[in-house]
Amino acid sequence: MKKGTILSGMRPTGALHLGNYFGALENWVKLQDDYECYFFVADWHALTTGYEDTSQIKNNINDLVIDWISAGLDPEKCVIFLQSSIKEHAELHLLFSMTTPLSWLLRCPTYKDQLNQLKDKNITTYGFLGYPCLQAADILIYKAGFVPVGEDQLPHLELTREIARRFNYLFGEVFPEPQAILTKAKVLPGTDGRKMSKSYGNTIALSDSPDEIRKKVSTMITDPARIRKDDPGHPEVCTVFSFHKVFNENEVSEIEEQCRGGKIGCVQCKKNLANKMVEHLEPIYERRQKIIENPGIVKEVLANGNEKARKVAGETLEEVRKAMKIDFM
Ligand code: TRP
Ligand code: SF4
Repeated sequence: MKKGTILSGMRPTGALHLGNYFGALENWVKLQDDYECYFFVADWHALTTGYEDTSQIKNNINDLVIDWISAGLDPEKCVIFLQSSIKEHAELHLLFSMTTPLSWLLRCPTYKDQLNQLKDKNITTYGFLGYPCLQAADILIYKAGFVPVGEDQLPHLELTREIARRFNYLFGEVFPEPQAILTKAKVLPGTDGRKMSKSYGNTIALSDSPDEIRKKVSTMITDPARIRKDDPGHPEVCTVFSFHKVFNENEVSEIEEQCRGGKIGCVQCKKNLANKMVEHLEPIYERRQKIIENPGIVKEVLANGNEKARKVAGETLEEVRKAMKIDFM
């Protein structure tokens, strides 16, 4: 027996990095055994902030699905689909746009934040403001009870619950109110110690080969106060140490002690880390090599997933039209 239905999605914005993996995907892989899971590529969402340059979307969809399967999402266990293939998302979004007060959207904290942050893009659009309505449609169309998200998405989930409640109040009980499954984010900085982000060029991609991983680890910033091997170190300011905490839990306290006591050199400490990372990531890399030998696989996976998703979404929309008494034909 499954514990309930889960839905989550990611925008196709390019190769996933280890921050994305530990922030979400690793958790999805665990959840697929216990829940009925729907995971989708949010390509329409990518348009809300990226409608001016769509040149990379198709490539990014392909890469994202390859990242997912390499990481261990199993199309036999979960439904993997493409948002834009399921037109019912657009229909439910339209219906929710009729019932959602403008004030709910305008006061959404991520709305104001993003307007300020993405100053170089013109996102004073209808679609960008209505984005939480689309997200509500994504979730509620599968009557998902649980949504694994990061903390930044909590206001959207709250809006989803409000949209469901309002619909149910107006037209009768159709939608459950979904709950968040908060992912305890393991914090991995970028190779230069700042937040891992593509715009800083400090990422380690999930698709990096063992050689690339070793190279990137060797360039990581360590404690700048350590010049000679026997200088006492400060692991709390060291990027390499942050990675040990995630990839090498068993040896963390030993490394901390040796670093503080000036008993290991950074070169050796990095080699040790690189070995642990490769051990962890090599299975993902190897699965990827098999997947890319078979270039048809992404479309095949999505076609199968789309079919399952479309069936559920179609049933929900019939129920919705009936509840709203707009099922004339
Ligand atoms: N908004 C999410 C993001 O930008 C992606 C997303 C769209 C999503 N619809 C969703 C996540 C529904 C969870 C549930 O990362
Ligand atoms: Fe960082 Fe390891 Fe060097 Fe200490 S020994 S500063 S933890 S790389």
